[in-house]
Amino acid sequence: MSINTKITGVGSYLPETIVTNAMIEDILDTSDEWIIKRTGIRQRRVVKDETTTYMAVEAAKRAVENAGIKSENIELIIGSTISGDVSSPAIASYVQRTLGCENVAAMDVAAGCTGFIYAMATAISLMETLNKNTAVVVASENLSCRSDWSDRSSCILFGDGAGAVVIERSESNSIYHPVLHAIPDTDDVLYVASSKYAHPWSKDIATDDCAIRMDGKKVFAFAVDAVEKTLNELTELCGDKPITKIILHQANNRIIRYAATSSSYDKDQFFVNVDRLANTSSASIPLAIDEAAREGWLKKGDVVALVGFGAGLSYGGIIIEWAI
Ligand code: COA
Repeated sequence: MSINTKITGVGSYLPETIVTNAMIEDILDTSDEWIIKRTGIRQRRVVKDETTTYMAVEAAKRAVENAGIKSENIELIIGSTISGDVSSPAIASYVQRTLGCENVAAMDVAAGCTGFIYAMATAISLMETLNKNTAVVVASENLSCRSDWSDRSSCILFGDGAGAVVIERSESNSIYHPVLHAIPDTDDVLYVASSKYAHPWSKDIATDDCAIRMDGKKVFAFAVDAVEKTLNELTELCGDKPITKIILHQANNRIIRYAATSSSYDKDQFFVNVDRLANTSSASIPLAIDEAAREGWLKKGDVVALVGFGAGLSYGGIIIEWAI
């Protein structure tokens, strides 16, 4: 028998610095017009002094405050990032340390831009397995420092920020139908490089490349297919309790528009903030949830499909019933 859970708090952090397409025109052979036409992105937030950890902690603090709980009541923290300040420990461990939660399980999941969906599924599963009452799921990304600013086909896509939710046990269930998938990325069409040292017994050479590498066209084809399949799957699983709102990973407005045309849903049912925040990888969905909740776009009782896709090639979705 599975436990009942719901989201009781949401929070986010965005750096103040805004980089517009016009500012990128000054450093690269690109144009505002090209970027808007191909992606819908007009601007992105980028860190000045903030780290991935700092943004994660701020977003988690705001979610905890929004839930009206005490940090010491948190029993599980699941983080997600493709741009950690360190490879280890997890951002979840830094959130634990800063929030002062003594007795928690803390770990990150690595599922590329689908990370928040995987983290939500992990959180509700572990709450049941480990018999926990309260969890924080936090995703934080500093992609401006993982972008190759000489590669005009990718650096224009990304932005920075963090989002978090608090999940608590409840009488009725408001988080359900997690669907997680992955198909092998045999051509390495999407990955984040990692710097490394060489050692005397290896043919490997040292590299300081840590940028996002991508074959845009192939990733686009994968993304629209993954979104279509996941939305169909969630629609079927929801049966006679129809999905009312959809929050897709905010990668590109063309992908969102494509999903709206290829599905039975109206374009107004899709939340969009990629025009202002660009692609913030695994942070994009909780950032969108927070903005949609604050703006009143999300209404109590909404049945919301969250759908993500990214490196791996991972994809998946989950349903949340908005209950705040
Ligand atoms: N400004 C101006 N021209 C650019 C450019 C830029 N920023 N980036 C690429 N171009 C040029 C290319 O050099 C190419 O020129 P050419 O025809 O002279 O060779 C032309 O524009 C078309 O490039 P192409 O790569 O075919 O464009 P595209 O239509 O596939 O759009 C993306 C590129 C990246 C916007 C698109 O493929 C995409 O959105 N992919 C998905 C990316 C994504 O969402 N990744 C994250 C998933 S989690």
